[in-house]
Amino acid sequence: MCGIVGAVRTSEASGFLLEGLRRLEYRGYDSAGVVMISPGGELERTRAVGKVGELEQALRQKPLEGTTGIAHTRWATHGGVTEPNAHPHICNGTLALVCNGIVENHESLRDNQRAAGLSFSSETDTEVVVHQVYLHLQNGLDLAEAVRATIAELHGSFSLAVVHAGEPGRLVAARQGPPLLLGRADGENFVASDINALLPVTREYQVLENGDVADIRGTECLIRDRAGEIAVRTVHTSTQSGDSAELGEYRHFMQKEIHEQPRAVADTLEGRLLGDHVLEESFGSRAQEIFDATRQVQIIACGTSYHAGLVAQHWLEYVGIPCEVEVASEYRYRRHPARKGTLVVTISQSGETADTLAALEEATRQGIAGSLVICNVSESSLVRESDLAFMTHCGPEVGVASTKTFVSAMSGLLLLALVLSRRQGFDAGFESHVVRQIRTLPTALESVLGMEDAIADVAKVFGDKEHALFLGRGAHFPIAMEGALKLKEISYIHAEAYPAGELKHGPLALVDEKMPVVAVAPNDLLIEKLKSNLEEVRARGGRLFLFADPGSGFVESEDVRILQVAPVDSAIAPIIYTVPLQLLSYHVALIKGTDVDKPRNLAKSVTVE
Ligand code: M6R
Repeated sequence: MCGIVGAVRTSEASGFLLEGLRRLEYRGYDSAGVVMISPGGELERTRAVGKVGELEQALRQKPLEGTTGIAHTRWATHGGVTEPNAHPHICNGTLALVCNGIVENHESLRDNQRAAGLSFSSETDTEVVVHQVYLHLQNGLDLAEAVRATIAELHGSFSLAVVHAGEPGRLVAARQGPPLLLGRADGENFVASDINALLPVTREYQVLENGDVADIRGTECLIRDRAGEIAVRTVHTSTQSGDSAELGEYRHFMQKEIHEQPRAVADTLEGRLLGDHVLEESFGSRAQEIFDATRQVQIIACGTSYHAGLVAQHWLEYVGIPCEVEVASEYRYRRHPARKGTLVVTISQSGETADTLAALEEATRQGIAGSLVICNVSESSLVRESDLAFMTHCGPEVGVASTKTFVSAMSGLLLLALVLSRRQGFDAGFESHVVRQIRTLPTALESVLGMEDAIADVAKVFGDKEHALFLGRGAHFPIAMEGALKLKEISYIHAEAYPAGELKHGPLALVDEKMPVVAVAPNDLLIEKLKSNLEEVRARGGRLFLFADPGSGFVESEDVRILQVAPVDSAIAPIIYTVPLQLLSYHVALIKGTDVDKPRNLAKSVTVE
């Protein structure tokens, strides 16, 4: 999940390329690099380990000039995070290439290339690709044909862009997996992994299809499909704002996005409710037909989005809809007996997660009632590929740790449960009760943010811990899972979540006075069960941190710290209890001094398998 950007301009291209990298940095920030064809017809390359800012500094020392260039921000797959492994990769000093994705058969190609006398300066699969294009050029193929011949030989999922020193004004781009977009403005041509990078120059873009090779020569751009036929791809107009998100008064985007949640959920709900009723068309124009045919739901997602799916499973089953939830990377490689009437629901902030896209493709092949995506990016691949889309309308989420999009996705899934409940014979009274609770979400979220000071205080206990346990029951077990994930990813503390009743089947062995145990404990039907589980922890010397409402009936003591949450209806409690856990992980990360918005080894959008 790297970011690619490229340009063939009539004026200097380096400014566009650098701004493009800044806008794509969320895809990976292990290293970055740029190649320009200099006015003298040579390839000039600058690369730097670390974030795009490091590359920027290097370019300030030694600016690159030229109107044609390619650039890349890397999330390492093959080969460590080093400058030699940073893209662009160059072959023979004349051919430069950037790639996003994974080439699976790089080992065997590398052997052949070694035998052909080529040497390697990196450990990457991408260097194999640039060498392969070079070998085809040596055999007399033209640049675009050499790229086509190369991608036919590669196994895996990737997109790439190539320039040749001898052909200034020419750039060849190809897609065989992760999205690659073309943009055109004022006789200039651009390529980028997503629309954000194109917005400073144009809102109009085309999306290459798998197998496409785009050949840009000056002002012209010719696309050929897998069969080599000239292809015409639809020109889309982006409605996204071209502004980069600003931090404003906040120290980190994650903090800002946590605080934006009341607004984000209000925006998610805007226009989706009429009186005490959910508007079915919020899910798309074919919603009625597809929901009428739905007998069960299969939810597929990754990471935080998967946790939203696990919460939704409780809601859907409550209204009588059989529901399975699966991690996309596992789903795609399992056999699934086709079941008539399945609505496949994917959940994805970015809409570009490679595993989720592949799982949707796999599910669609089986024959389903329809597909619905819950997503925050309207111009994303999952939105394009799904029959129905529910947009969360949260605005861009910059922090790698998902926060506002998680609560907004859950809000959308609760609306879905209500829409399907009608077909299960639940009366209008049920829907109107839940809708009344949903309408309180923005205010309840605002109120729970008021816990921040108390949570910041508790966070001090976690600063020197290496492990933590998170417990919950029912729909709050996935919230505990999400709390553990947040703590892991931004504070690097090992955290595990368990359904509290499972403790005695193994994890209780971990509990001693050094292990903080966090429990999500609203006053619901399972509270008495949870209390017994927590007593088992106390009896082993465990230190408890309870997010509970006054009705839960806990008493604070030396080994029990209670963080009081205002009472909310059980229909919306999982959404509300998410927020204090986000705040806890944020404040622990501050104490640990990590890079909150760009935690090590991660990226915002996971466009590789
Ligand atoms: O864009 P998606 O929601 O499909 O991304 C899936 C996961 O990579 C993502 O939810 C990830 O787990 C979170 N950013 C972690 O906070």
